[in-house]
Amino acid sequence: MEFNLDKNKSDIDIYEELSILIDHVIIPTDRIISNLSNFIALFKDAFTKISWIGFYITNNNKLFLGPFQGRTACTEIQFGKGVCGTSAQNQETIIVDDVNQYPNHIACDSNSNSEIVIPIIINGLTWGVLDVDSYSKSSFSEVDKKYLEIFVSKLVKNVNLTKFVIS
Ligand code: SME
Repeated sequence: MEFNLDKNKSDIDIYEELSILIDHVIIPTDRIISNLSNFIALFKDAFTKISWIGFYITNNNKLFLGPFQGRTACTEIQFGKGVCGTSAQNQETIIVDDVNQYPNHIACDSNSNSEIVIPIIINGLTWGVLDVDSYSKSSFSEVDKKYLEIFVSKLVKNVNLTKFVIS
């Protein structure tokens, strides 16, 4: 499956195109791991500003590294730790303009400068988070928050994520 997105378009235009493409990427009858992997690939491919994007998935108040694209990353994050663990615990999206100024930040890649983390909440529980990093400062705004939250809720609606077993 190949999509040729114009990377010079504005973020809003790219997200609008992705809103159509996502329906060809999330296939409810596909395996959960396949849906998670393709979801990630779609965004990594669409935005040059993204250096790393991936899922961390909850088990026992900890987050474990799931499907991702980018450099190798931390495999385990406690709830409450780092941007991911804080988002998971507070169940809210966090935008960090400059990770060097965020005291709780966990640096997996020292070149990373900004970050957005979207919690994935199912039946009131944090199933996991979507973590997106950039090498540039202030890469993410309310626009990214709005669209990424919509895409995450589309994923939750169409894929039975609670069946995903991590052991
Ligand atoms: N920076 C994250 C850790 C995960 S890596 O960025 C892939 C955090 O502070 O939670």
